[in-house]
Amino acid sequence: MPPSPNRTSWSRFNVFLHWTIVVLILFQWIEGEYMSQFWDATLEGEAIDRTGVILGYSHIVIGTLVLVAAVLRLVDRFVAGRPAHGADEPQWAVLLAKVTHVLLYALLLLMPVLGLVAWFTGNDDIAGYHAFLWNPLLAIIALHVVGALAQHFWFRTPALKRMIPGLRHSI
Ligand code: HEM
Ligand code: HEM
Repeated sequence: MPPSPNRTSWSRFNVFLHWTIVVLILFQWIEGEYMSQFWDATLEGEAIDRTGVILGYSHIVIGTLVLVAAVLRLVDRFVAGRPAHGADEPQWAVLLAKVTHVLLYALLLLMPVLGLVAWFTGNDDIAGYHAFLWNPLLAIIALHVVGALAQHFWFRTPALKRMIPGLRHSI
């Protein structure tokens, strides 16, 4: 999706969804290993304590919310476009940002879809692919955060400001 000349900043809704996804992913990070225990116990028909069950189901609900939020962001982007990348930014940095965003969206959609398919079919191989994608997602997020900070402190573009609720209107 190319930048839209009509869009000079992200909508409040889009910014809200961005930070909601960040919080939800943080939660998945903290309790991911409980989901693995819940999954193994479910496959083997073993009992698991109440906290483990609650955390396991929370993983499913929160992961599904990530899917919904990512789809909504993509719809918003296709309908309204996105703000332009910095005019003075080198082409390689713009390209790297685009590739990073595509990979982020791909993983934000693929991870929950694989998790749901694994859960509803009871397929441990698919669950394995789901778990395998976690480290690549973390690596791309790390690259994305470094990129966002570089935009602000190095290339001095408004990209970070327009994604921060309190600063969006000071650009
Ligand atoms: C973007 C959303 C999601 C993220 C970031 C995520 C992340 C994770 C992480 C970090 C683990 C632990 C991996 C490990 O310990 O090696 C895990 C395990 C698991 N998740 Fe998710 N998850 C998401 C959505 C979902 C959804 C919607 C489901 C649906 C049921 C699901 C089902 C599972 C299952 C079955 C496992 C156990 C996999 C195994 O141990 O082989 N996940 N997930
Ligand atoms: C779980 C962690 C994160 C995920 C999954 C994530 C995901 C994304 C995605 C998919 C986009 C692309 C938006 C689009 O072009 O449609 C984006 C944009 C952006 N993100 Fe993140 N993000 C995360 C964390 C962060 C953090 C911690 C920061 C700040 C340091 C940040 C700053 C930004 C900025 C500034 C943009 C807008 C870039 C622009 O306008 O060109 N993100 N994020």
